[in-house]
Amino acid sequence: MLQHKNIILGVCGSIAAYKSAVLVRLLVKAGANVKVILTEGGETFITPLTLATLSKNPVHTSYFDPETGVWANHVELGLWADLLLIAPATANTLAKMATGLCDNLLSAVYLSARCPVYMAPAMDLDMWAHPATRANVQQLQNYGVITIPPGSGELASGLAGEGRMAEPEQIMTFLQSAFEQERPLRGKTALVTAGPTYEAIDPVRFIGNHSSGKMGLAVAHELTRLGANVVLVAGPGTPPSPDVIKRIDVRSAKEMLKACLDHFETADITVMSAAVADYRPAEIADQKIKKADETLVLTLEKTQDILATLGSQKRNEQLLVGFALETENEEAHALSKLERKNLDLIVLNSLNDSGAGFGTNTNKITIFNRNGTKSAFDLKSKTGVAQDICAAILTLVPN
Ligand code: CTP
Repeated sequence: MLQHKNIILGVCGSIAAYKSAVLVRLLVKAGANVKVILTEGGETFITPLTLATLSKNPVHTSYFDPETGVWANHVELGLWADLLLIAPATANTLAKMATGLCDNLLSAVYLSARCPVYMAPAMDLDMWAHPATRANVQQLQNYGVITIPPGSGELASGLAGEGRMAEPEQIMTFLQSAFEQERPLRGKTALVTAGPTYEAIDPVRFIGNHSSGKMGLAVAHELTRLGANVVLVAGPGTPPSPDVIKRIDVRSAKEMLKACLDHFETADITVMSAAVADYRPAEIADQKIKKADETLVLTLEKTQDILATLGSQKRNEQLLVGFALETENEEAHALSKLERKNLDLIVLNSLNDSGAGFGTNTNKITIFNRNGTKSAFDLKSKTGVAQDICAAILTLVPN
């Protein structure tokens, strides 16, 4: 569940900081990438060396390293994280978080992070019971911060009561079940295509296109995050995809068709974001074509439309999503492809929208549903667009 997740662990100044060593070990063992931020108070209880060794990453203690001047970019750290876990969270840190105070790296990362935030409070029972702390916890809950409740027992002060940080194993169980609930597609299989196809002309040349594979990859990543087992069929140049279960690299439309046919039958959801060549050279020259006349004529033949082929084989319970890249009469063309290729959803990219289409990190889409609804979205990062596409898929997935 936590495999390949980027987790920032904030460790504050509490005796419970000693437990964070075990927590880091458990997170790393579960496959997470862990970066630790240690507050000044935290550093008095546990050394950066311990946490750096266990997390296999440098520990961040302040905005910059006074010796080297290297800057710890809090915005970058905040955006890197899939999850921010503050354990132990002291009364002081949670008061700062509740009021937006930002006087150390951890509070700056908290304000910059867009990911889910979890905190495991640790403090003495009277501090935990104080109305100020209660109000802060309530405020943080309103902001969406999830509290991993402290346990009861003997406290460092010698008193007994509620305020002990949850044990590392309990924190792990809590995180795992939270992730489980966020995985509505668990048990489902998804087939995703990404990138261009290259159609060989001779042993050294091909006909291709500018698709980067980023859009398909973002969809594959989002479906994986939602719990699906993703099979990615990737055209040439598609960037690495460490979190997908299975990846099949292909070059030509023919190879992509075969990989798709091999996996379509077992796919609950299929998203065809690849920019498949519509034509290929009718003959591939065995040897490199030598320069000769002033002009060279290549005869092209149609490739098989993979999406339409899958559409013709689709069973009722399967979902099929296609893309349409258009330059004119966008809506009419998209709707005709939705119908013709027997799709459930079609994602329209208009090349008339700046920032949309190939090569960019952004995209602007409109989604048409076979039940007649149309949703137009703003220009977004391809990750944001993938989330919108998957949200539309979720509305159609049977439970
Ligand atoms: N597609 C496919 N196989 C092909 C061509 C396209 O599977 N040989 C898929 C793409 O992955 C995309 C959708 O069809 O999901 C639309 O591609 P597009 O090129 O816009 O549509 P075409 O049907 O080829 O129509 P046209 O070229 O006339 O716009």
